[in-house]
Amino acid sequence: MPVPLFDTTTPLAPLREQILARIGEVVDSSRFILGPEVEGLEREFADYCGAGEAIGVANGTEAITIALRALGVGAGDEVVVPSFSFYASAEAIPPTGATPVFCDVDPETFCVTPETVKAALTPHTKAVITVHLFGNVAPVREIEALGVPVLEDAAQAAGSLGADGRPGALGTAATFSFFPSKNLGCFGDGGAITTNDAEVAERARVLRFHGSHDKVSYERIGYNSRLDELQAAILRLQLPHLESWADGRRAAGEHYRRAGLGELVSLPAPTTGARPAWHLYVIRSERVQAIEAGLTGAGHGCKGYYRTPIHRQTAMASYANGVTLPVTDELARTHLAIPMSPVLSSEQAGAVVDAIREGLVEANA
Ligand SMILES: Cc1ncc(COP(=O)(O)O)c(C=O)c1O
Repeated sequence: MPVPLFDTTTPLAPLREQILARIGEVVDSSRFILGPEVEGLEREFADYCGAGEAIGVANGTEAITIALRALGVGAGDEVVVPSFSFYASAEAIPPTGATPVFCDVDPETFCVTPETVKAALTPHTKAVITVHLFGNVAPVREIEALGVPVLEDAAQAAGSLGADGRPGALGTAATFSFFPSKNLGCFGDGGAITTNDAEVAERARVLRFHGSHDKVSYERIGYNSRLDELQAAILRLQLPHLESWADGRRAAGEHYRRAGLGELVSLPAPTTGARPAWHLYVIRSERVQAIEAGLTGAGHGCKGYYRTPIHRQTAMASYANGVTLPVTDELARTHLAIPMSPVLSSEQAGAVVDAIREGLVEANA
């Protein structure tokens, strides 16, 4: 029984008829941009996160650029960002005029810490992006205590819970991606910004709409970056299920633990007090190649997502000048995502662990 890296089909199967009917209703309404579905989702998603407001945008990358600009980030500023993340976490910074400054992460949680952030702060730092990587929850409050505003990159952490609340309501603002494979995914591109600061929310609303309130007068250079009505309607039908899907992701992690995975590799560690809804289940080992061979040989999915960390990407060369990030480099080499979904069963987890064990034995033979 091959186990795929992720399974977005099975959890949605019971909602199929409901979603298709709702899509028909939106089509019949002829209202496709910034209508009642987006407004409804913004209200419901803000409530879910425990944030004051949510603003639907076109994707999780533009969500970061717009949120940074809404926080007042611009030319001459620096934004601290972890290099061990998806490229977009840093790619979204230069379009604001600011410069990315790369920081390291904790080897067990994959998240930034007050210490790794502190090492990257300068008098020019205007904001810190804390990525809730793989669904773990970065220590946002402790980092904001350093005296800098935090933008949470929560693209991978919908459904997770931290010691101080949900991602989306921990920092000054937060961003989400609704890319189809995410914990809460739509049927195309989509994203959102959440914040408790009404002024930040207002600036983000204007920026996503060409820098305008009315599409007649234009106050700022903005973006055409809106979540559309069809995607919002699809997301609204899924949101009530996010909690049980998050439980399923946590249960999948437990299945791996019970199947003895921790005896073979290092397991991801939740940050203190966190209950991660694992978006990706990422193990660490010095012997990832043998493990990958074992998994692919048995037909199971696996992937090293960030083998080249962001600060070593060609496009980032001018921002990386001489920075050394030893934990990031080690994680880039030793991490491996193995199958994870809200419906991963104990039998599937057992099969994956068996294949990892066989891969390691084979490599020793
Ligand atoms: C950590 C992180 N940040 C940002 C993004 C960008 O989101 P999107 O693909 O919706 O632009 C993603 C998702 O791909 C991500 O994983």
